[in-house]
Amino acid sequence: MCGIVGYVGGQSALDVVIAGLKRLEYRGYDSAGVAVLADGGLAAAKKAGKLVNLEKQLVERPLPSGSTGIGHTRWATHGGPTDANAHPHLDNAGRVAVVHNGIIENFAALRAELAERGHDLESETDTEVVAHLLAESFSSCGDLADSMRMVCRQLEGAFTLVAVHADEPDVVVGARRNSPLVVGVGEGESFLASDVAAFIAHTRSAIELGQDQVVELRRDGVTVTGFDGEPADVRSYHVDWDASAAEKGGYDYFMLKEIAEQPKAVADTLLGRIDASGALTLDEVRIPQSVLREADKVVIVACGTAFHAGLIAKYAIEHWTRIPCEVELASEFRYRDPILDQQTLVIAISQSGETMDTLMALRHAREQGAKVLAICNTNGSTIPRESDAVLYTHAGPEVAVASTKAFLTQLVACYLLALYLGQVRGTKWADEIRAVVRDLAQISGQVDRVLETMGPVRELARSLADKNTVLFLGRHVGYPVALEGALKLKELAYMHAEGFAAGELKHGPIALIEEDLPVVVVVPSPRGRSVLHDKIVSNIQEIRARGARTIVIAEEGDEAVVPYADHLVRIPATPVLLQPMVATVPLQVFACELATARGNEVDQPRNLAKSVTVE
Ligand code: F6R
Repeated sequence: MCGIVGYVGGQSALDVVIAGLKRLEYRGYDSAGVAVLADGGLAAAKKAGKLVNLEKQLVERPLPSGSTGIGHTRWATHGGPTDANAHPHLDNAGRVAVVHNGIIENFAALRAELAERGHDLESETDTEVVAHLLAESFSSCGDLADSMRMVCRQLEGAFTLVAVHADEPDVVVGARRNSPLVVGVGEGESFLASDVAAFIAHTRSAIELGQDQVVELRRDGVTVTGFDGEPADVRSYHVDWDASAAEKGGYDYFMLKEIAEQPKAVADTLLGRIDASGALTLDEVRIPQSVLREADKVVIVACGTAFHAGLIAKYAIEHWTRIPCEVELASEFRYRDPILDQQTLVIAISQSGETMDTLMALRHAREQGAKVLAICNTNGSTIPRESDAVLYTHAGPEVAVASTKAFLTQLVACYLLALYLGQVRGTKWADEIRAVVRDLAQISGQVDRVLETMGPVRELARSLADKNTVLFLGRHVGYPVALEGALKLKELAYMHAEGFAAGELKHGPIALIEEDLPVVVVVPSPRGRSVLHDKIVSNIQEIRARGARTIVIAEEGDEAVVPYADHLVRIPATPVLLQPMVATVPLQVFACELATARGNEVDQPRNLAKSVTVE
């Protein structure tokens, strides 16, 4: 949520910052802005709308060139997406510029105090107060990093700030509380950004900033302290993917590329986690086995798509380990006074590792004594750092706002974890684990096969472009798949879409069925839980009898659905619990194609941002 870039070095700061912002635009695209230090002064430009608007403005009205600069791409919180509210924000003398991600909760009080002291604030944002406070502090101490520390001590809320001052032309200063900020260390140049993607084309050497830290960036290195000025310990790491992974690679949209990358992402997430004998080796789960053995409850916290992965994980955890498992929306969890103790294992699932709701939920869980294990896709992000252990998914960078490959890898991680718990607790025998692992190893190829047959799904989606509503039905693990299908359609196609447990239809939702209403039905495997399969076939008949247009996702060889399917989408036969891995893929393609057919922005849907760092 909001992308930030800072640069000091030998290149044109404007070029580096704009290129970095392009990579971060997935974080917010309500407005964009830049500031560079040049000719003893500070020059800034900002524009409402996407980055391309700012780029056009810079062609018409170029900024002077300099080698120190900052930039921002905004997801609006305080104040609408206007030029005036775009970042950077400057003080009245135009000597300080600041960009910000997060929310400053006490900004109204600070703003009133500044106004009393004669400051003239122009925007509706919470950020602008910081520019004025920094200017005041700088006039008394003459040092931007000291000023930042002083200002941060006055701020409440979650914030990442990056600032420059015209009197310190070779310095960029950043501060971090909760929202992400990463340092890139190059040869004679340094970078700051919300995400390594912004500087990966220049360096793969990164430093993680911790909570309540201030960093002073110079060409020849960085200094990190706490808000109190004490030197801070930092962790350096090497980014294990390169610039090409953050590019579209010939696809029209990142989302299409990421859907296509799913077979590899699934295989990569399994890699190295199974030994030659077929047993699980999750060495990174650094929670003592005694704690895992004694856990009497599992609670999964997550948001959005990651929450849907958690709902599916519940079936696997309870079936394979016999531990009760609850799945909670992170945003509801901590306000509900949940019952947790040292015997509760909390699993926090997050692609970005920065989702504020999930972070707050895990902090709450740890305060109650629970052990927290993160499932995360982003190395060094806040959620794994604050958890007792982490199981990384290896989806690679996910840029499109709508999550696809991260979801499939979250499922893989959940299955592995459920099996591992079964292994540790002795509820799953070695040969049973080996059998499931063998099935999991097949999934990558099966997803590939699904992807090869998506032509008719695309065609169908295009034919539905003028519909207003699509419903999704599923049972058992197919129910969260239905929820995920509906979420993808809402966020991408801006259509009314709802997912239901098919058994609930008769309790109300069936009243929604009308002539030619598209209803997608995820049919459970006819093997295994055949009762459920037969019941859902009855549900399909019920809705069809009331005029619905049925779009049926069913396993190859399931002939019972054929007479009732207006459109039939085949998926490979998998074991019951693993079916979501293949059944979700057509729904992703369906939503993506409908978004395109309706002329929507696939990678950057309206009102959304990839990494939700506000509550
Ligand atoms: C939907 C989507 C969101 C995220 C949610 C959690 O396509 O991407 O619903 O799943 O915001 O994000 P993470 O996984 O980063 O915590």
